[in-house]
Amino acid sequence: MVGTPVKWLVLISLTSCLLFNAVELSAKKTYIIQMDKSAMPESFSDHLEWYSSKVKSVLMKQSDDEERIIYSYQTAFHGVAAQLSEEEAEKLEQDDDVLGVFPETKYELHTTRSPMFLGLDPRQDRDNVWSQMLSDHDVVVGVLDTGIWPESESFNDTGMTPVPAHWKGECETGRGFAKRHCNRKIVGARMFYRGYEAATGKINPQSEYKSPRDQDGHGTHTAATVAGSPVKGANLLGYAYGTARGMAPGARIAAYKVCWVGGCFSSDILSAVDRAVADGVNVLSISLGGGVSSYYRDSLSVASFGAMEMGVFVSCSAGNGGPDPISLTNVSPWITTVGASTMDRDFPATVKLGTGKTISGVSLYKGRKTLGSNKQYPIIYMGSNSTSPDPSSLCLEGTLDRRKVAGKIVICDRGISPRVQKGQVVKDAGGVGMILANTAANGEELVADSHLIPAVAVGESKAKEIKHYALTNPKTTASLAFLGTRLGIRPSPVVAAFSSRGPNFLTLEILKPDMVAPGVNILAAWTGDLGPSSLPTDKRRVKFNILSGTSMSCPHVSGIAALLKARHPDWSPAAIKSALMTTAYVHDNTLNPLKDASTAVPSNPYDHGAGHVNPRKALDPGLVYDIRPQDYYEFLCTQSLTPTQLKVFSKYANRTCKHSLAGPGELNYPAISVVFPEKASVSVISVRRTVTNVGPPVSNYHVSVSPFRGASVKVEPKSLSFNKAGQKLSYKVTFTTKSLQTAPEFGDLVWKDGVHKVRSPIAITRLPPM
Ligand SMILES: *[C@@H]1O[C@H](CO)[C@@H](O)[C@H](O)[C@H]1NC(C)=O
Ligand SMILES: *[C@@H]1O[C@H](CO)[C@@H](O)[C@H](O)[C@H]1NC(C)=O
Ligand SMILES: *[C@@H]1O[C@H](CO)[C@@H](O)[C@H](O)[C@H]1NC(C)=O
Repeated sequence: MVGTPVKWLVLISLTSCLLFNAVELSAKKTYIIQMDKSAMPESFSDHLEWYSSKVKSVLMKQSDDEERIIYSYQTAFHGVAAQLSEEEAEKLEQDDDVLGVFPETKYELHTTRSPMFLGLDPRQDRDNVWSQMLSDHDVVVGVLDTGIWPESESFNDTGMTPVPAHWKGECETGRGFAKRHCNRKIVGARMFYRGYEAATGKINPQSEYKSPRDQDGHGTHTAATVAGSPVKGANLLGYAYGTARGMAPGARIAAYKVCWVGGCFSSDILSAVDRAVADGVNVLSISLGGGVSSYYRDSLSVASFGAMEMGVFVSCSAGNGGPDPISLTNVSPWITTVGASTMDRDFPATVKLGTGKTISGVSLYKGRKTLGSNKQYPIIYMGSNSTSPDPSSLCLEGTLDRRKVAGKIVICDRGISPRVQKGQVVKDAGGVGMILANTAANGEELVADSHLIPAVAVGESKAKEIKHYALTNPKTTASLAFLGTRLGIRPSPVVAAFSSRGPNFLTLEILKPDMVAPGVNILAAWTGDLGPSSLPTDKRRVKFNILSGTSMSCPHVSGIAALLKARHPDWSPAAIKSALMTTAYVHDNTLNPLKDASTAVPSNPYDHGAGHVNPRKALDPGLVYDIRPQDYYEFLCTQSLTPTQLKVFSKYANRTCKHSLAGPGELNYPAISVVFPEKASVSVISVRRTVTNVGPPVSNYHVSVSPFRGASVKVEPKSLSFNKAGQKLSYKVTFTTKSLQTAPEFGDLVWKDGVHKVRSPIAITRLPPM
């Protein structure tokens, strides 16, 4: 019985190709095979020839001349992706020259799919002057995403210099994408679909562009956020009107399309990173996640290690799994992990109840300015007053009874279906408006959407109040009003409720996320193929859209990294990350500590990492914590990986463990996370750090450390005197436990020279007894 459904599936998939052997076809999957490049026998002249002979040697059916290899990898990763049966993959794994065999994994885009009302970033306006000034060095940012919409004004290359001769990227063509779609701004556009096709079947060229053209909008949005040219008068349906520009308007964009209608696949992602590094990108912006939680099995982790070795800065989204703890993705120390925060703009809207009470919320609805004013509409809530939302309260497709909701404003709880789709469901059932209610999962964080009917989103406590009114009164009414765009919101920034949280489950000693950046209500360029709500029923077409997610915060950091690279071409990826982290701020615009949107209490480094990115300060950090590729490898040597697992990271540079780090906390990271083991006998832990002077040659720094209840902290020496540029000096921090603290404690360590403040966040954790 167990096998029956599988056979059934096989039969369905075979209806169009009846001649194949069903058992074998059903069993074949894509595997990524990592090879020990250095082990190639001399009888082979080229690596691909050797890799394919290895694959051939395990094939069950030798007569099978079907091509099994779909990719070969040569730059950031060595090996191939091939279609194999499980038995073949197992056999290959036994081979000594094979470092690892990893099954294809599906990754996801890190957007919350919430078109919010526009948001032109005022911070971008303030930074205009320096970003233009710094754009004179050529920096190329590779964006791994859904492709690009080349007609967007954000990719206008007027005034840009010719593409540098050393750039090796290409403009691949296909439906809707010709050579002429690349220019001096979009210097490369490639697509990677072999893993996708192997997993889901051939791309239907009628319903999907088999080209770098972006049908989804996500890739256009992220690329424009990294390096979009300034566009005056940008807006979404009138919201967030202003000049839209990327963080590094002078940088070039290379689009690597790895995400398709059916998802993003690891073998395609790996191929794109490999290709991008060979093409010569300086920065990689990857707003994707979902890989396996392991350093050596996650393709993104392995590929980005190779990119880092080649001097490429890699920034990734932290994920949208917040506010649950331990929800981070992309936590490898060589990756910059970016969480999301709000900006100081929102899109106010109000609900006026029959009682006369006005409740505030947000909306990006574009139509009449009010729904009812003198006249009020009846409101209805299909749920109950229990604390958990019940199914009928979620306005899922097919759940609303027209007889009950027609002509009314319907209260819908967030959850399960996309927010804009709930509005569509209400509209289809004859409802005139919607109140979108946050539940405990979203707290007070408001997300504005370009709904297709008049709709206002309200926070959890206001939602309770409205529901109580609707459930306890016989005749309840409301009207809705839409107030446009409001700036100067206080407090801001605030850490977004959806932003994934630490601690870092892979290695507690590496504090993650690294930082937060704007990721809520971000206005940027959009595809011409889909309406702003992304619903197929949405026939509107817009040049800009407002989205939220760590997908949106990651490209902010990628763009700022491009600016730093332009200003400091010799800085390593670790030096750039250090500059971004040690200059980040942890206060909002009311000068109070940064807050967490899900609780409205101060956030901590598990939420915001080093803090909110501060581009201007990052240009001149004073000191940096540099890390060489071998140091990252030494970090891996502390992670209990087997020799074969370690080899996954050493094939490029033939690395060996020199055991120069006493533990993972000794990696020269710009943050300090101290983990006391459960054994009470361990009461003292020391970590060493080395700073490099990138400020004035003669500089004197003094340290200050925040107090902790559970431990005393001693720094030796307390001052550092530099007398030349590039000089490195080390210090030691010793933590001695004072009293037992069960909860983690947070603070910071700051080096100051009167001009620069080089700040590292500190987390002290005591592991609970097992
Ligand atoms: C690009 O911008 C320039 C200057 O603003 C403008 O003249 C030109 O028409 C734009 N090109 C396209 C293709 O829109
Ligand atoms: C729901 O409302 C009813 C009527 O007001 C009340 O009796 C009941 O206790 C409420 N239940 C909860 C879980 O609040
Ligand atoms: C790799 O390093 C080891 C130890 O340093 C050395 O013996 C070996 O020859 C090197 N292999 C290659 C291919 O460079």
